[in-house]
Amino acid sequence: MSNSNKIKIYKRYKAENRATLYLGDTRKFLKTVKAEEFNLILTSPPYNIGKEYEKPTTLDEYYESQKEVINLCIDRLAETGSICWQVGNYVDKTGAKTEVVPLDILLYPIFKERGLQLRNRIIWHFGHGLHSRNRYSGRHETILWFTKTDKYTFNLDPVRVEQKYPGKKAFKGPNRGKPSGHPEGKNPSDVWDIPNVKANHIEKTIHECQFPISLVDRLVKSLTHEDDLVFDPFLGVGSTTAAAIRYNRRVAGAELMDKYYNIAKQRTIEAYNGTLPIRDDKPPYTPPKNTTLTTNPFTVKK
Ligand SMILES: C[S@@+](CC[C@H](N)C(=O)[O-])C[C@H]1O[C@@H](n2cnc3c(N)ncnc32)[C@H](O)[C@@H]1O
Repeated sequence: MSNSNKIKIYKRYKAENRATLYLGDTRKFLKTVKAEEFNLILTSPPYNIGKEYEKPTTLDEYYESQKEVINLCIDRLAETGSICWQVGNYVDKTGAKTEVVPLDILLYPIFKERGLQLRNRIIWHFGHGLHSRNRYSGRHETILWFTKTDKYTFNLDPVRVEQKYPGKKAFKGPNRGKPSGHPEGKNPSDVWDIPNVKANHIEKTIHECQFPISLVDRLVKSLTHEDDLVFDPFLGVGSTTAAAIRYNRRVAGAELMDKYYNIAKQRTIEAYNGTLPIRDDKPPYTPPKNTTLTTNPFTVKK
């Protein structure tokens, strides 16, 4: 996808802007937006795990600040819109004992109190991360996808993936002997195997916690139409706006830190121009057998 026109990035929100990126606190930005403007709100908020953009807070304070942003977002979500909150775990080390807190479980009641309906709790599985010594290493995070009503956009066809056995045939009935799968592929299910953005990922920037563009792609393609407005309240380096602008959606986002904001702006422009490096939505790489890297040195007979 490439575009010969130039895109203007506005700092102040107007519904007709193709791209609005705000540098500052998301709550301040949200208050400039009218009710029910956004068709899709998609984000990965801070996890309260001591990153440079987070003030250390108690879990209660974190919950309250998330609640404030989520409520502002819900007010600005269209009746037919979707809101996707992508989170992992917070490890609470503040008391005498340490404990893992799954943030989706913590935040779920905030959405329920406002009457939203959960459509999927998507498991995002990835292969790499920190190695734990005293529990299993964490290799998944979740996306809570809520809608406001039963009348919501869901386009399955643009996100179908190839079946495991595309040549499988019906063995009885009127279609006996004919291919039994959908010709465009199958529903990708609620477990997504997408590599996370680590050191040598093609999309890697200076941000420690950016999510991969193909994760956003699936949600944008299935939950919105062209010209719909996609908003990320915790924009980071702009993975959401970069992904959505490629599919002719209007985009908006807010980011607190200059250095991430500037990259978000640049990536959104490059995505619009078709020059941003993006990993295709394809299965994780399987390394070839019998190389030095894939041969176990502890079991090789000398
Ligand atoms: C987990 S990161 C999001 C990364 C993003 N998904 C990406 O792919 O680049 C959360 C971001 O929210 C920003 N942030 C934290 N509090 C904020 C606030 N109150 N208003 C706006 N941005 C905020 C942080 O600076 C950080 O870049």
